[in-house]
Amino acid sequence: MKILITGGAGFIGGNFCHYMVKNYPEDSFVCLDALTYAGNLETLKDLLNKPNFQFVKGNICDTNLVFNLFKKEKFDIVVNFAAESHVDRSIENPKIFLETNILGVQTLMDACKKFGIKRYHQVSTDEVYGDLPLDRKDLFFTESTPLHTSSPYSASKAAADLLVMAYHRTFNLPTTISRCSNNYGPYQFPEKLIPLIIKKALNNENLPIYGKGENVRDWLHVYDHCTAIDLIIRKGKDGEIYNIGGHNEKTNLQVVKEILKYLNKPESLITFVKDRAGHDLRYAIDPSKITNELGWKPKYTFETGIGPSIQWNIDNKKWLKNVESGEYLRFMENHYKDNIIDKKEEEGITY
Ligand code: NAD
Ligand code: DAU
Repeated sequence: MKILITGGAGFIGGNFCHYMVKNYPEDSFVCLDALTYAGNLETLKDLLNKPNFQFVKGNICDTNLVFNLFKKEKFDIVVNFAAESHVDRSIENPKIFLETNILGVQTLMDACKKFGIKRYHQVSTDEVYGDLPLDRKDLFFTESTPLHTSSPYSASKAAADLLVMAYHRTFNLPTTISRCSNNYGPYQFPEKLIPLIIKKALNNENLPIYGKGENVRDWLHVYDHCTAIDLIIRKGKDGEIYNIGGHNEKTNLQVVKEILKYLNKPESLITFVKDRAGHDLRYAIDPSKITNELGWKPKYTFETGIGPSIQWNIDNKKWLKNVESGEYLRFMENHYKDNIIDKKEEEGITY
């Protein structure tokens, strides 16, 4: 089989490329990635000399490039990870999110329609469901939870999901969609909570926690996201949506304290900063469908997965240095510049 992996130089796509090339030596893989600030060829360097792996630099919105690639390679399966993925950046500048996350998906599906495909898989997110209240631990996102987005990022992902469903219904395109909770693990770009906190704690810098740190995320090791997508593209049913998550709900403060404990760093580094606009309160996935229908089970709990992931960041300082480009530094400086409000004293919070 020939498989196109778009966005494979990013965090999850990169892990997926490694997973697939290792587990399916008889298949061949093409990774198409625009190498934006979040994409890094370093992540794929061990794959670049493999005979069944090819990297193509290009934008999924570029119709000529995408159509020529499909015509030449005759893909069986397309797995689309390519996206603008950082919520804070979507608040700063929504336009690129609509271009890549919606129009890019349309371009890919038009190519699938024109050149034929066995499966188009759209990597979506639990953020399309909006959020759940903090005081209703009995509520979870199922595949039929209504879409109710909060940020330009999640709105763009929800729009893409609707477009995928429309291409399935109108053009009979064989599609699947997966909606996963927050990932952590190797090769995660250090603008997302976990690698950011590890990096700053290692440097003894203040750790910026939005609001009171009580927002809840449902954390899944990236390896388990990869095994779930692998199952869906091989055994999932056309037109279906599958939620992916492992019931690992934690408040942001719990996550940060866990990291500090592992690194043996003081909790006094915790610094409360201005809350994210529109900040979703709680995500929690009900993974019954993928568990019951496809037999998926995660390998890691948060407790077993987080230590090795922290250690990966310690052992791979060179990779981290390489991804900190000019654009990354600009965003970090601008985003965290004026919003440090240390509420510890103000609100009488002690650690
Ligand atoms: P990422 O930001 O680390 O990587 C995105 C990749 O896409 C980068 O390599 C980037 O260069 C590439 N890209 C961006 N725009 C492109 C374009 N126009 N054309 C081609 N390539 C382009 O993202 P991630 O965290 O790995 O997320 C991957 C996918 O999974 C996204 O679709 C995201 O919505 C979804 N998702 C992420 C998480 C998470 O916790 N990170 C959870 C659930 C779903
Ligand atoms: O739920 C899946 C989503 O998870 C994916 O669709 C997104 O692509 C991915 O980026 C992630 O979105 P979040 O907004 O949940 O992730 P982030 O790492 O940006 O933030 C996690 C939580 O930590 C969130 O409640 C905001 C908070 N946070 C984040 C940063 C960057 C802080 O408190 N301080 C920070 O500096």
